[in-house]
Amino acid sequence: MARQFRVMGICGTYTLESANGRMLEIISDKLESRGIDWVVWDNTKHPLPFVGEDGCWDHPNVKKYKELADSADAFVLSSPEYHGTMSGVMKNSLDWLSFDQTSGKIFAFISTLGGQPNTTTLNHMRVVARWIHGISIPEQLVIAKVRSAFDDDGNLIDEDIKKRVDKFTDSIIKHIEKLRG
Ligand SMILES: Cc1cc2nc3c(=O)[nH]c(=O)nc-3n(C[C@H](O)[C@H](O)[C@H](O)COP(=O)(O)O)c2cc1C
Repeated sequence: MARQFRVMGICGTYTLESANGRMLEIISDKLESRGIDWVVWDNTKHPLPFVGEDGCWDHPNVKKYKELADSADAFVLSSPEYHGTMSGVMKNSLDWLSFDQTSGKIFAFISTLGGQPNTTTLNHMRVVARWIHGISIPEQLVIAKVRSAFDDDGNLIDEDIKKRVDKFTDSIIKHIEKLRG
């Protein structure tokens, strides 16, 4: 029987009760319906310390986080754009990862913005993923004007973005199967 693959979501907004948390939930529903195991890091339940702060190296949440990352075949990073780049929460979450957890694993990227669409935050996350020897898929998602991107039930409104979400999910699965199968 084929091995079950696991994807880990990392949210650049501290709480999953956010647009980025919702984007990860939308992706997780699609992946789980295709038989992929999904885990997401929840900073509100298990806050990660800042890299370098007192006691951080032996922090139990860091151990838990690294173990979860170890178990993943792929990562979906979803970050708000803050001042033209990824949030500090996202950067700190990535700083806790190293080759041990990430080498040769798939990375996929989502960015949400208050304003007009751009790909700066996505590109900045791609640079970090390369630095830790991740393999980035070409498909990516930008959710611009994020305050009006979802309906009252948290569903994406724009039909083109919904199609892109499907392509994004297909690509994650295709690349996991190719590289990790
Ligand atoms: C400190 C800060 C900086 C921000 N900088 C930008 C920015 O450079 N460009 C932009 O379009 N939106 C910017 N925003 C808006 C956020 O991108 C937006 O609120 C976020 O994507 C919403 O996602 P969330 O619900 O997951 O937090 C900024 C918001 C904050 C709090």
